[in-house]
Amino acid sequence: MKVIKNTLQMQKIALKYIKDGDEVGLVPTMGALHEGHISLIARSVKSNDITIVSIFVNPMQFDPNEDYLKYPRPVRKDLEICKKNYVDYVFMPSVNDMFPVEHKTFLEVKFLQDILCGAFRANHFKGVATVVVKLFNISCADRAYFGMKDLQQLKIIERMTKDLNFKTKIIPCQIVREKNGLALSSRNSYLSVEERNLSVNISKILKEAAQDFKNKNLNAVMKNAVNKLKEIYGSKIDYAEIINFNDLSPVDKHVKKVVFAVAVWIGKTRLIDNIVMTK
Ligand code: PAJ
Repeated sequence: MKVIKNTLQMQKIALKYIKDGDEVGLVPTMGALHEGHISLIARSVKSNDITIVSIFVNPMQFDPNEDYLKYPRPVRKDLEICKKNYVDYVFMPSVNDMFPVEHKTFLEVKFLQDILCGAFRANHFKGVATVVVKLFNISCADRAYFGMKDLQQLKIIERMTKDLNFKTKIIPCQIVREKNGLALSSRNSYLSVEERNLSVNISKILKEAAQDFKNKNLNAVMKNAVNKLKEIYGSKIDYAEIINFNDLSPVDKHVKKVVFAVAVWIGKTRLIDNIVMTK
């Protein structure tokens, strides 16, 4: 496994593989790797000749009041995890190399960037889309792996890939959860034991809602779930919405495949989760 810190060097290496007919898989991450990331890596290793994992805490996707500086950066542990999971290249660029002071280009994905998390994190998805486009170009990836844990991010990247005719195929990957249901996230490390116990309720409520959706109408499912979410002591709900699975548009009562997406605060930590619900 090689660690590459320079964008031009990474692109040169990737281009050579593509020229030789090898297929390249990309797993974009911000590090603090856990089983969720590992599941993406495993899928890439299985389907591609070469797997590149990028580890880059992207300042552009953090709003000024967010946790950019505090975000966990356990580099040595991350590299061990990558090595153990047969990663070929870890791409770890500096902020200066990715976004030098003269950088002026940004990517926007209308509508999708403004709803759900976008309504609370002003420039977040602009930052995500911009860095992911750069990573696609640097890695020349045939396939890129994204978790459904960040469903809105996945939908934005799928849209942008189609809109801009990228050759990269987007591979959605299932949410990996702890045994108690909590969706794995690098931010879970911020939670105290007490907060961790509280956060388990989120996935429980989503699961119950999915069960309810089989035989209850949308309004009843929502009302029940939001009431339960509100009962979680000290938690603040940014949103709890049922939307269309395909394009995250508002649902009507006849729709059969929807997603229930929530963002709640447990203390100072913002957690997101979602569940796909079918009739
Ligand atoms: P990060 O939060 O590190 O997540 C990297 C990838 O891992 C994302 O595609 C995310 O959806 C996936 N992931 C995280 N937790 C998961 C879980 N419990 N189960 C399955 N997949 C999971 O998302 C980002 O980084 C950044 O926004 C990035 C795309 C790298 C751009 O900076």
